[in-house]
Amino acid sequence: MERTNFCGYRCSLCGEQYAASQQLYLCPKDQGCLDVVLDTAAIRKTVEPLRLSGPDREPSHWRYLPLLPLDDPGARGTPLRRVGWTPLYELPALRAARGLSAFWLKDESSNPTASFKDRASSLVTARAVQIGAGRVVTASTGNAGAALAGMAAALQLPAVVFAPKEAPAAKIGQMLAFGATVILVEGNYDQASALSIEASRELGWYCRNTGYNPFTAEGKKTAAFEIWEAVRQGRIELAGGAPLAIFVSVGDGNIISGLHKGFRDLSDLGWLEFQPRLYGVQAEGSAAIARAFDAGRQSVQPVRASTIADSICVDMPADGARALRAVRETGGSYITVGDRQILQAVAELGRFGVFVEPAAAASYAGFLAALECGRIAAREPVVVLATGSGLKDITAVQKAVPPAPVIEPSLQAVKRLLRRLEPRACGHRIGAEQASE
Ligand SMILES: Cc1ncc(COP(=O)(O)O)c(C=O)c1O
Ligand SMILES: [Zn+2]
Repeated sequence: MERTNFCGYRCSLCGEQYAASQQLYLCPKDQGCLDVVLDTAAIRKTVEPLRLSGPDREPSHWRYLPLLPLDDPGARGTPLRRVGWTPLYELPALRAARGLSAFWLKDESSNPTASFKDRASSLVTARAVQIGAGRVVTASTGNAGAALAGMAAALQLPAVVFAPKEAPAAKIGQMLAFGATVILVEGNYDQASALSIEASRELGWYCRNTGYNPFTAEGKKTAAFEIWEAVRQGRIELAGGAPLAIFVSVGDGNIISGLHKGFRDLSDLGWLEFQPRLYGVQAEGSAAIARAFDAGRQSVQPVRASTIADSICVDMPADGARALRAVRETGGSYITVGDRQILQAVAELGRFGVFVEPAAAASYAGFLAALECGRIAAREPVVVLATGSGLKDITAVQKAVPPAPVIEPSLQAVKRLLRRLEPRACGHRIGAEQASE
């Protein structure tokens, strides 16, 4: 078993430090999100960065256990052990079509419950077992709840999920299939979130809520470690010295602040050889953080959120201050995209073999927008994070593409249809058979 290097928490607003022995969510003084503090001196002494990349390492985010505030999570032989270590695609055909030379897409749909949220939920559930929590709870637009339910099932831990009543059916179905107690709230995500915190306080449940629980960002930071490792191994090439740009869809702002934490940990250890820029992408109808960024504010004001990308539909982001800082401190930017651009991005990625839900396509839509307005050049190295599978929200995905035609069950009907759909591509055979029709 590897020794945990967890030494406490630091408030992201006031800087106050708290001991690891305390069971904390937000800073008791000012409700700021808490950063986990690691014993970097001890890690530096005991861990060789090259050792983390050895071929003997687990092909999951648990390969970074020495950089996580946790002992061995156990759960061998379960889906919890294969979270992370997601594929990095070059997509040569997409590169050629868009004139890109250094583009990569990190596909998080290969996680056990098909979204990025497994990274956070696996850490939080493992932590729950270690502190002896009897039950875990979360509020969710859908993915975090499905991830919590799946990871809790792997550990045989009871889970409760509060989700908006309008959450996509596939996400609710996943939570139920994993055996969670699913409570659908007549209201939006922010209301489900407030209620889940109230219930967890009253009933003593361990709460996973995004940003609220400091371990969520710790799980999400593992994607930064994977990108760092890919750069070290030359799977991502930083030729020409241009800094790597990473595009991330942003709702609560916890994925982007988790990535920032991962890169900061590496920098504190003296292991980070490049300076990545983080680009946050929000839906125009749910852009509280992007607005604060544009206005130069340190804090975020709530909006009345509405977008087809349900996973990033948030009135008041739980991790807004850190999400602002992640972009400012790395020299990135915030970008907003409309629902039309998001749906076009779903369709475009689909044509290159990547199937994503709208919230996961927002990052790619934001990248295209940044290219178009010249904020990013086509030759600059870019990683776009695709955070969730298209199977998560089929109803929304179907809005991105024309409907499939329905025909009567005859070959003539097939030929008629093909002539209508693709008159040129139909070729000789169909043309020749026309006479006999
Ligand atoms: C698919 C997907 N992408 C992006 C996000 C945004 O993450 P965050 O809320 O941490 O900003 C979420 C959050 O639920 C998500 O499910
Ligand atoms: Zn504080």
